Amino acid sequence: MPGRNFLFVPGPTNIPERIRRAMDVLLEDHRAGDFPTFMKPLFEDLKKIFQTTSGRVFVFNASGTGGWEAAITNCLSPGDGVLQARFGQFSHLWAELCRKHAMEVTLIETPWGEAVPYDRYAEVLAADKAHRIKAVLVTHNETATGVTSDIQRVRKILDDLKHPALLMIDGVSAIGSIDFRMEEWGVDIAVSGSQKGLMLPTGLGLVGVSQKALEARKSAKCARAYFDFDDQIRMNDDGWFPYTPAMTLIRGLRESVNMLLEEGLPNVFARHARFAEAVRRGVKAWGLELCARDPASYSNTVSAIVVPTGKNANDVVKNAYARYNLSLGGGLGDVAGKVFRIGHLGDLNEIMILSALAGAEMALRDSGIEVTPGSGVGAASEYLRSTWQAS
Ligand SMILES: Cc1ncc(COP(=O)(O)O)c(C=O)c1O
Repeated sequence: MPGRNFLFVPGPTNIPERIRRAMDVLLEDHRAGDFPTFMKPLFEDLKKIFQTTSGRVFVFNASGTGGWEAAITNCLSPGDGVLQARFGQFSHLWAELCRKHAMEVTLIETPWGEAVPYDRYAEVLAADKAHRIKAVLVTHNETATGVTSDIQRVRKILDDLKHPALLMIDGVSAIGSIDFRMEEWGVDIAVSGSQKGLMLPTGLGLVGVSQKALEARKSAKCARAYFDFDDQIRMNDDGWFPYTPAMTLIRGLRESVNMLLEEGLPNVFARHARFAEAVRRGVKAWGLELCARDPASYSNTVSAIVVPTGKNANDVVKNAYARYNLSLGGGLGDVAGKVFRIGHLGDLNEIMILSALAGAEMALRDSGIEVTPGSGVGAASEYLRSTWQAS
């Protein structure tokens, strides 16, 4: 097929030319004498992306799921209580992973499209007088539904109750795209992956860890081997890895961090917010609804769009790909067939956003969903024009 694929799944995302070039290097010796002069500053700069000074960031050869496992196994013991809300496929899967590690998961079933049920979290934690719950999990940005939860609100619940549980955040589709302040928000564990806001290929699991979580690992009894924080600490402190790092990706990571810091995190977040709003205006002009119910929790990295009853969202995804070489995200888990998703994170500009809306608009009509041709693109383009500012 001539032309190129348009990648609008919510990760993996487009890899900028700068990062691709940075990864186009000969393989190198990760035990070379000068390796730490490259790696130590990168560990420091990663802390800026996670917005922590007192914590540290581990880089594993893994994906986000590996980061979940690292978090759980290093800080908890079998039988420990874990609080999680199930409001999308990724919150569901992290809870499942905890169960596989024999945690006692208190799972709050929450309608998909809603954020963390703050009041229920408060009730459960208030009732936990014996502090059996050792970790409170929050999927910051539920990629399946396009819902962002308020981490500070969860922190406040824990603080008000003086509950000592660790606050563990899944920031896989948030970190590097949506404001996330690990230290200021009192987050103990923050998990991310390379293939979303960091604009890299899949293959790195990044885990931000607070001093409190590092302390917790000393008494945590889960079996851990490959993901053991201790091995990382021993080697990372001097700029090394305990095993062979994915050097090509790490060269790309250096460039990605450079790009994010050069643009400035507040500008990165504002860009994501503006593009997300453009997509939402397009969706509204189509006359369709988002899966996210409350505007306060609309995600700035992914929009899950509900198709009318009787229509199949998978048809939209299939037609977009087969006819126009546009990759949209399908519905996952409980919302399979009901929603399709437009990922709007990472390396994007106005025209790229409009191309996704144009393709989605055509695919909607091809799937028997009668949106007015040009309506979504028109609404989004006017918004983008009217909000354009010189950078
Ligand atoms: C919010 C969230 N958490 C976790 C994951 C799992 O990450 P991975 O697929 O990199 O293992 C994803 C993947 O899309 C995600 O969106």
